[in-house]
Amino acid sequence: RRLILIGPPGSGKGTQSPIIKDEYCLCHLATGDMLRAAVAAKTPLGLRAKEAMDKGELVSDDLVVGIIDEAMKKPSCQKGFILDGFPRTVIQAEKLDQMLEKQGTKIDKVLNFAIDDAILEERITGRWIHPSSGRSYHSKFAPPKVPGIDDVTGEPLIHREDDTPAVLKSRLEAFHKQTEPVINYYTKKGIVSNLHAEKTPEEIREEIAKALK
Ligand code: AP5
Ligand code: ZN
Repeated sequence: RRLILIGPPGSGKGTQSPIIKDEYCLCHLATGDMLRAAVAAKTPLGLRAKEAMDKGELVSDDLVVGIIDEAMKKPSCQKGFILDGFPRTVIQAEKLDQMLEKQGTKIDKVLNFAIDDAILEERITGRWIHPSSGRSYHSKFAPPKVPGIDDVTGEPLIHREDDTPAVLKSRLEAFHKQTEPVINYYTKKGIVSNLHAEKTPEEIREEIAKALK
């Protein structure tokens, strides 16, 4: 299976990804996680991406397409993958189609995490992440056993630098302007399933299971 998860910041893509990944044995490719790792490691790519990310703007298409092209070559991604946070522009979607065409494959399903903007600020400002695994928590909706500590490794959790109300505003603008057209792009191909992303994680998980039947 080759899946795309699309939705605004805080809609639950990163929360559902590990569940889908384990259930269907897919590889999880999250451009946001990969970019944050590059920023933390201060690689040339990270240095180029940081400015846009800090402002809540999209990083250039060439840069993220390059990352995905490289990542999809991994042997573990040959049987199928979940793309989380990519493609985010119509140009990225077209480039992805070209890449897959070369391999004789295509996207099977796009899961659209549909949700009202008003719900997202509370989700974003309460989020904690475990940086090396990408695991996320929420101070109210999904608290770790010990505040500020990862359940699995016991390591400290952090807040993402772009998880502020001001940066969220630009991330939402980028979503509506540049990423919503991507949903239309795949709707025309008839492969979009719309989820009720305001529901609980368990309910969304069931909706995903139905969509992937
Ligand atoms: P990225 O990391 O992709 O961020 P995003 O799209 O803004 O999405 P988030 O990670 O904020 O949301 P999510 O849907 O994963 O939410 P989560 O499940 O964690 O991108 C960051 C930046 O990188 C971009 O701004 C851009 O600069 C750059 N970038 C990345 N990809 C790019 C691309 N393709 N092109 C160009 N630039 C790119 O949930 C959020 C919180 O809510 C958590 O605390 C969680 O516990 C809680 N929660 C989750 N589900 C529920 C629920 N059902 N009920 C209650 N709480 C819930
Ligand atoms: Zn995410």
